[in-house]
Amino acid sequence: MTPMPATAAVRVRRAELSDLDDLVALEEQSFTSDRLSRAQFRRHLDSESAQVLVASANHRRFLGTAVVFFRKGSQRARLYSIATHAEARGKGVGSALLEAAEHEARRRRCHALRLEVRTDNHSAIRLYERLGYHCVGEHKGFYEDGSDAWRYEKILR
Ligand SMILES: CC(C)(COP(=O)(O)OP(=O)(O)OC[C@H]1O[C@@H](n2cnc3c(N)ncnc32)[C@H](O)[C@@H]1OP(=O)(O)O)[C@@H](O)C(=O)NCCC(=O)NCCS
Repeated sequence: MTPMPATAAVRVRRAELSDLDDLVALEEQSFTSDRLSRAQFRRHLDSESAQVLVASANHRRFLGTAVVFFRKGSQRARLYSIATHAEARGKGVGSALLEAAEHEARRRRCHALRLEVRTDNHSAIRLYERLGYHCVGEHKGFYEDGSDAWRYEKILR
């Protein structure tokens, strides 16, 4: 794959059907458990209560993804998943995806964005804290493999 220049402008768009192969491949590379299946991604693409975002830059059509869930009657959105292709990390893709997720949550009149993160996932925790997320609790055994999670939240203004 062509390397991404550090200065490339990251764009974030809504995922389409044609992204399904990339979404599933990135999910498999990024996570060992709690993965979204192709059928789940497919459903989320059309769902009112989910938003699947895709990051691209210049000629690279698919660099990463974020999945946000919304619930009727709740002003708290949930970032279910975020992942950047391994060779595109450290270039602002994750930050752009998270900011786009926040934008979408604000657009839907949500007051907060919540997420869970493995307690040993230091790069993700750094990203969340840098963008203003605060730890609001712990969830023991949250993941399918029994790992613990921190819960983080950002109040959206
Ligand atoms: C967590 C994850 C999404 C971060 O994505 P990313 O694209 O690397 O995120 P960013 O590039 O925005 O930020 C990462 C670092 O790069 C730095 N950075 C951002 N833009 C930069 C640029 N243009 N030049 C140099 N460094 C840059 C950031 O300051 C940040 O530094 P930090 O680690 O000290 O905070 C990514 O590591 C990943 O996909 N991990 C595997 C999946 C995962 O664990 N997901 C989270 C749990 S659901």
